[in-house]
Amino acid sequence: MNQNFISFEGGEGAGKTTVIEALARFLKEEGYNFITTREPGGIQIAESIREIILDTKHTAMDGRTEALLYAAARRQHLVERIIPSLQAGKVVLCDRFLDSSLVYQGMARNIGLDEVLVINNFAIENCMPKLTFYFDIEPEKGLARIAKNKDREINRLDKENLDFHYNVRNGYLKLLTMFPERIVKINADRPLEEVVAETTAKITEYLKQV
Ligand code: TYD
Repeated sequence: MNQNFISFEGGEGAGKTTVIEALARFLKEEGYNFITTREPGGIQIAESIREIILDTKHTAMDGRTEALLYAAARRQHLVERIIPSLQAGKVVLCDRFLDSSLVYQGMARNIGLDEVLVINNFAIENCMPKLTFYFDIEPEKGLARIAKNKDREINRLDKENLDFHYNVRNGYLKLLTMFPERIVKINADRPLEEVVAETTAKITEYLKQV
């Protein structure tokens, strides 16, 4: 069942949301049965938790509180949306999943990978994506893209300093070495059409063999 579960990861401004939208158009044309969804959120309870986490007024939020809230939102999203979709035979394209917590809370916020993994194992009960695309770009370039795109909301995490975003990138590169069989790195420092084309080719090849 989990072979149809695919997640997308990356730092700020890597373009993953735009790539997912393009992929969705492609999969629709090809007649795939699929859903796209996002973390933190995707369903009402998790979207409400997301508002608490990303509220720019919540500067006092403790790192472990943040990690627990992400894990809670993930749990609800999983049982209410992801698992039923997988059970119905659908492909699930999820914008961020567990790796975001490992990187942002575990590594960039320094809570520790193992600590964050423990609370998340409780939340997900082994339901992990089989394939993860990681969109890699230097933090300065990603943040410059966001600054250009004025329609996009600026959230609490976007306001972190550059060091934080470097830690995020290094965190993802570390995860790549830990889970090479699951995570595929995509160079996102290219025109978006090229990023879309490469991801589409890889996903098509993957879905043909599952
Ligand atoms: P969002 O606006 O969805 O950003 P993006 O378009 O980059 O995905 O905001 C999600 C933010 O939440 C993003 O900065 C990453 C962060 N995040 C975590 O810190 N931990 C998590 O477990 C998840 C899912 C997201």
